[in-house]
Amino acid sequence: MSTTPVTVTVTGAAGQIGYALLFRIASGQLLGADVPVKLNLLEIPQGMKAAEGTAMELDDCAFPLLAGIDIHDDAAAAFDGVNVGLLVGARPRGAGMERGDLLAANGGIFGPQGAAINAGAADDVRILVVGNPANTNALIASAHAPDVPAERFNAMMRLDHNRALAQLAAKTGSSVAEVKRVAIWGNHSAKQYPDIAHATIAGRPAPEVVGDSAWVTDTFIPTVAKRGAAIIEARGASSAASAANAAIEHVHDWVNGTPEGDWTSVAMPSDGSYGVPEGLISSFPAVSRDGRWEIVQGLDIAADARAGIDVSVAELAEERDAVKEFGLL
Ligand code: NAD
Ligand code: LMR
Repeated sequence: MSTTPVTVTVTGAAGQIGYALLFRIASGQLLGADVPVKLNLLEIPQGMKAAEGTAMELDDCAFPLLAGIDIHDDAAAAFDGVNVGLLVGARPRGAGMERGDLLAANGGIFGPQGAAINAGAADDVRILVVGNPANTNALIASAHAPDVPAERFNAMMRLDHNRALAQLAAKTGSSVAEVKRVAIWGNHSAKQYPDIAHATIAGRPAPEVVGDSAWVTDTFIPTVAKRGAAIIEARGASSAASAANAAIEHVHDWVNGTPEGDWTSVAMPSDGSYGVPEGLISSFPAVSRDGRWEIVQGLDIAADARAGIDVSVAELAEERDAVKEFGLL
């Protein structure tokens, strides 16, 4: 077992994703069963008491890997020395709030958090933004952290990726483990583009195994893209355990690598690949090697996929332009 604990900062720690996330981090599922972790919890003042309660429960688990817990309502303290930051806390859309209001409200959170990361983070820091609108919040945080390489800021698409795996497995009577190389492109929104063109199921091309292109267009794509809303409708609250699970898997693979022969979906700053404007934090199929994401290159993009990707990327560009107008970039 290594001895120096990895500092993991979780924002929105008293929220529902936080509650589903913290115990798994402390048990070793984020970074590995031999990696001690120190948890820094960040909340707003109203969330501090509940965060303290969660910290008491973490203590009561007596996790051998948990080297300590600190609770903060100050971003500078919470991100001091951070190695892995999970930015979950965000401002939910309130009644009568327009999209622009939501972007501006979240800019007020992710700008200062980006600055705190810039000031105090460890050299190897990795940041995963979960709080919505995740891609644009990540862009804002990164813009306020000019000394941190932009590639260290990701937004979470792993939940969308996992939703796609589950839908494909169910449709084809396969196990999830047999489904490989699904891709989600673009924004974590209903305009994302879930893509099975390059996927395989038990080694065979997924489109051939599915054998029903209308199902892909009319059922699969909208089901995956609108799954977040469907969960809210069913549960009366947005996805929490599945979101926490996806965050764990994203960071685990970022640090430890993706399995040979497969890839995952990651929103990271575009390098211009696949015609996505440079700098937008957009989802691509990606593999992790030596602790860094690499966009999977050389995929043929058919006309329907091109159109779907373009719609999603246009939405990201609109969000970027809106927050630029608010002076957040
Ligand atoms: P929640 O309302 O249960 O918890 C959010 C917590 O964040 C609250 O405890 C709140 O006090 C805290 N918070 C608010 N502002 C903060 C700030 N400035 N600093 C620190 N903490 C702050 O919400 P949740 O269900 O845990 O969801 C959190 C976010 O994750 C939401 O934006 C949700 O839409 C998003 N989400 C994203 C995905 C994804 O796939 N990317 C999936 C599910 C949910
Ligand atoms: C999800 O995909 O489950 C969430 O992003 C939905 C939401 O709006 O919180």
